[in-house]
Amino acid sequence: MVTLGFFRIVCLSACFILTAADEDLVITPSRLVVEYGAKASANCTTPHNHQGMGWEATEGSIDMVQNVHFLTWTVQSLTVWDIKPECFINLARKQSVKKLQITVYKLPDTLSINSLPPVIEDERRYLQCDVQNVAPVQYLKVTWYKQQSPVKSFSFNESTITPVNVSSELMIKPSREDDRAKYWCEAKLELGPDGPQPPPTMTSDPIHIKVYYKPMFSNDTEIIEAGDGNIMLNCTDTANPPSVYTWEGLHLEGKKEVKLSSLSVSYPGNYTCTASNAYGKAKKLFIIKSKNHNYTTLIAVLVPGLLLAVLLIAGYWFKFRKTATGGSANHSTAPSPSAQKEEGQELVSAAI
Ligand SMILES: *[C@@H]1O[C@H](CO)[C@@H](O)[C@H](O)[C@H]1NC(C)=O
Ligand SMILES: *[C@@H]1O[C@H](CO)[C@@H](O)[C@H](O)[C@H]1NC(C)=O
Ligand SMILES: *[C@@H]1O[C@H](CO)[C@@H](O)[C@H](O)[C@H]1NC(C)=O
Ligand SMILES: *[C@@H]1O[C@H](CO)[C@@H](O)[C@H](O)[C@H]1NC(C)=O
Ligand SMILES: *[C@@H]1O[C@H](CO)[C@@H](O)[C@H](O)[C@H]1NC(C)=O
Ligand SMILES: *[C@@H]1O[C@H](CO)[C@@H](O)[C@H](O)[C@H]1NC(C)=O
Repeated sequence: MVTLGFFRIVCLSACFILTAADEDLVITPSRLVVEYGAKASANCTTPHNHQGMGWEATEGSIDMVQNVHFLTWTVQSLTVWDIKPECFINLARKQSVKKLQITVYKLPDTLSINSLPPVIEDERRYLQCDVQNVAPVQYLKVTWYKQQSPVKSFSFNESTITPVNVSSELMIKPSREDDRAKYWCEAKLELGPDGPQPPPTMTSDPIHIKVYYKPMFSNDTEIIEAGDGNIMLNCTDTANPPSVYTWEGLHLEGKKEVKLSSLSVSYPGNYTCTASNAYGKAKKLFIIKSKNHNYTTLIAVLVPGLLLAVLLIAGYWFKFRKTATGGSANHSTAPSPSAQKEEGQELVSAAI
C-alpha cells in the first residue's frame, strides 16, 4: 500500500513498533455510529499473508478464514448495546487484534414537559423536561426554548451506554409579558463527526404558561383639555385576570359604581379610576382642565348676570310704562272713566 509504505519511510525504527499493530489491520470506518436496530457494517483489511482472519463479536462474528485480505462484519439489525467487534489475524508468531469502536444510539421514546398551574407574576417555578429511554446519555444535550430562542442547555455526565431516563429542570420567574409564553425542550444526540448529520433530534410538545398579574397603567396620570361636549376617560390597564373599575370625582355622586374601563364626564375637574383584581390594585388620575379657564368663569359670571339684567330691564320697563301713562293722566283736567278703562286695557295688552 502506498500510504503504508510512505509511513514506513517517514517513521524511524522506534516508530515502526508502534505502527506495526496498526498496519496489521485497518478497519473502515474506524468508528461506527449506529442507531439501535439499524444495519451495521465495517471492513477489516490486512496487507499480510496470514494463517487465518476473522471477526469476533456477540453478533455477526465470522469464523476464521484463510487467503483473504479483506473481511466485512455485518449485522442487519443491531440490538446489542455493548457490542465490541474485533477483527483478528493469526500471523506466524502472534495474533493481531483490532477493535471496532461502536456507538449504539437511540432517540428518546418520549420527551415531555410537566404541566404548570397558573403562576403569579415574579414567582419562581420549575419546568421539567422528562426524557425517556435515551442512549447513550453522555452524548445527550437537552435544550430549553422559550418561544423560538434557546434559553438553557444541559449535558449529562454519565457513562451508561444503555437507555436511561433523565430529566432537566428550568427555573422560570415569569413577568406579565410572559403570559401565554411558549416553552419546549429538545433532546439532541451530539454523536460527533462520525455520527449522522444533522444530529438526531427530538422535540417535546410545547406548553403555554399562564401568568396572573396585578393591574398596571402605562401612564397613571392623564391631563386632558376639555373640549366641547363630554369627555371620555379611558382607564384601560393591563391585568390578568381583567380588572374591575371604580371611579371617584366631585361630579360623580351616585356614579361610583360604574364598573367600566371608560367613563364619559361633562365637567372639568379631577377624576380617579381604581382598577383592581385578585392580585392588587392601581389608581389613575385624570385631570381635566377647562379649555380656557378665564373664558368659562366669564361665562359663569356673565350668563346669570345677563339674565338678571334682562329681568331687571323688563321690570323697569313695565314700571316706567305704568308711571308714564299715569303721569299723562295727571296732566289731563279730569280723568274720565273711559280713559281709566283705556288705561286698564292698555295695561292688560302690555302684560300679554
Ligand atoms: C466495505 O467494502 C466494500 C467493498 O469494497 C464496500 O462496498 C463497502 O462500502 C465497504 N463498507 C464500509 C463500511 O466501508
Ligand atoms: C464528569 O464526571 C467525572 C467523574 O465522575 C468527573 O471527574 C468530571 O469532572 C465530570 N465532568 C463534568 C464536566 O462534570
Ligand atoms: C423509564 O421510565 C419508564 C416509564 O416510567 C419506565 O417504564 C422505564 O422502565 C424507565 N427506564 C429506566 C431505564 O429506568
Ligand atoms: C403620561 O401622561 C402625561 C399627561 O397626559 C403626558 O405628559 C406623558 O407624556 C405621558 N407619559 C407617557 C409615558 O405616556
Ligand atoms: C383606551 O386606551 C387603550 C390604550 O391605552 C386603547 O387600546 C383603547 O382603544 C382605548 N379605548 C378607548 C375606548 O378609547
Ligand atoms: C387635581 O390633582 C392635581 C394633582 O394631584 C392637584 O394638583 C390639583 O389641585 C387637583 N385639583 C383639584 C380641583 O382637586
